[in-house]
Amino acid sequence: PKPTPSGARGLRFTAVAPNKDDKVTVPDGYAQNVVIRWGEPILRGAPAFDPDKQSAKAQAGQFGYNNDFLSLLPLRGERGRQVLVANHEYTDEILMFRGYDPASPTREQVEIAWAAHGLSVVVVQEENRTGKLAPVNRHPLNRRLTATSEFRMTGPAAGSPLLRTSADRTGSKVLGTLNNCAGGTTPWGTTLHGEENFNQYFANGSSDTDKRYGIGTAATERKWERFDKRFDLAQEPNEANRFGWVVELDPYDPDSTPRKRTALGRFKHEAAQPRLTADGRPVVYMGDDERFDYLYKFVSSKRMKKGNSRAAREHNLTLLDEGTLYVAKLTGDSPAGEFDGTGKLPSDGEFDGSGVWIPLATGETSHVPGMSADEVYVFTRVAGDKVGATKMDRPEDVEPSPRTGRVYVALTNNTDRGKAGKPGADEANPRNANKHGQILELAENWDDPAADGFAWRLFLVAGDPEDPATYFAGFPKDKVSPISCPDNVAFDDHGNLWISTDGAQLGSHDGLFGVATQGERRGELKQFLTVPTGAETCGPVIQDRRVLVAVQHPGEVDGASVEKPASAWPDGPGRIVRPSVVAVWRKDGADIGV
Ligand code: FEO
Ligand code: CA
Ligand code: CA
Ligand code: CA
Repeated sequence: PKPTPSGARGLRFTAVAPNKDDKVTVPDGYAQNVVIRWGEPILRGAPAFDPDKQSAKAQAGQFGYNNDFLSLLPLRGERGRQVLVANHEYTDEILMFRGYDPASPTREQVEIAWAAHGLSVVVVQEENRTGKLAPVNRHPLNRRLTATSEFRMTGPAAGSPLLRTSADRTGSKVLGTLNNCAGGTTPWGTTLHGEENFNQYFANGSSDTDKRYGIGTAATERKWERFDKRFDLAQEPNEANRFGWVVELDPYDPDSTPRKRTALGRFKHEAAQPRLTADGRPVVYMGDDERFDYLYKFVSSKRMKKGNSRAAREHNLTLLDEGTLYVAKLTGDSPAGEFDGTGKLPSDGEFDGSGVWIPLATGETSHVPGMSADEVYVFTRVAGDKVGATKMDRPEDVEPSPRTGRVYVALTNNTDRGKAGKPGADEANPRNANKHGQILELAENWDDPAADGFAWRLFLVAGDPEDPATYFAGFPKDKVSPISCPDNVAFDDHGNLWISTDGAQLGSHDGLFGVATQGERRGELKQFLTVPTGAETCGPVIQDRRVLVAVQHPGEVDGASVEKPASAWPDGPGRIVRPSVVAVWRKDGADIGV
């Protein structure tokens, strides 16, 4: 047999070389399958996918478009099965519909798009005791939630006048979830889903807060406002306030109404991942993915109840409704004059410093002068502005290490840093015109996730390792893979951080990487896979025997369409391109990377 490749435990595979191949490339000795594609039927009565006979009714029972966050949850009593939960961030009509006319979408096309957004719950079955997974069609837990399903607003801002509309005078019942990007899995068996770029769905914004959230003042590109007036803010000014939240879903209860948790604030939520305090209270870390926006955390005032009793489950579904919302302010420990925007290491050899969590609101009490608690929750970005939070390079996914408690923040890029009229480089965001991004490592004081202060340092400054303005936690740079635009992050059981990328700027397709965070190999980054043309890598779930990724927006290249595809993935030439979930495992049946 061949010698085992070197690397930290869990990362012993031969790194995949950067490439532009129109396929998923995995390391030697590994196999893959497409677990589920856009349009595959998962609910009773849903038809097989036919790209030329799409309907909203069919799509509402089929796997949605543009899979992003993935979670795999255990399913007791059903051998070899797990519950897959997936986000469907957005639709790309030009790649979905033959002959699509962006100037005049039809009602049917718009309703298909509504049904292709949202979330899927689908039970998956392992085949032949390998890593290979297949969906279990019509399983009773299978579920679709779309842009028209019912959601409940909960927590301190639920019922606020800011959330009331003509269709919902209670300010507590919302139709739909939109732009679900990344998310998280809670220790009490639910999933969290960030509503990210919700601004794009709303026309005719006019308020200062609409502007702060990037809502345009004219018609939208999608033109949904032609088919449902709630997407027209001139007619329904509060409807957009009902999006931009973290959604909590109980995938084990197919009849439950998912909740939008107002206590976690409203912004372009990339993701939300909890860690428990020593006394069992969840602390949820969250990024607002916008250039110069903020990093947040929510500290619950309630303790999780263990076990699976009905009482425990009901209690745990209230954990994210009571607590304190904080925003991060970071201070570097090197003189500000050492940061000229080139990314040169400061004289003390490290990008590092300390930080404080500034409280914004606790329950009904605001901590921000001039803002009510409701305003803090609904216009959280404005609250962050007022208290002087640190303007970061697009905070994407945030993940606490289950091993060490240290928190890893993917700051994907920020090409506006240092431009005229914009903030320049600082120790945490040390490069102007930052194309490649960085990963920040945060250690809470006394290792207490509820602490009001922390230490931080940059773990990775991404890019081509030959570029002097890169840093891999001090590991020799001739032994690492190039990486650009870190987006989603996840941990394996060995304590390695896995990083997926979106928009890599180094001439290779996007991919998935693993990196050790502890020990002698800390900073040794290795590429595990690459994705097809036009795609971004999302969702990663790292289990002992499999890696699961969401291949999002394959074929999304300027000028591409159904008639002129830029990719032939996953089904080959002549077949429509379909965003899909892929499982990867070792051919010899052993664990990943050992
Ligand atoms: Fe939807 Fe920030 O990625
Ligand atoms: Ca320093
Ligand atoms: Ca993302
Ligand atoms: Ca992304």
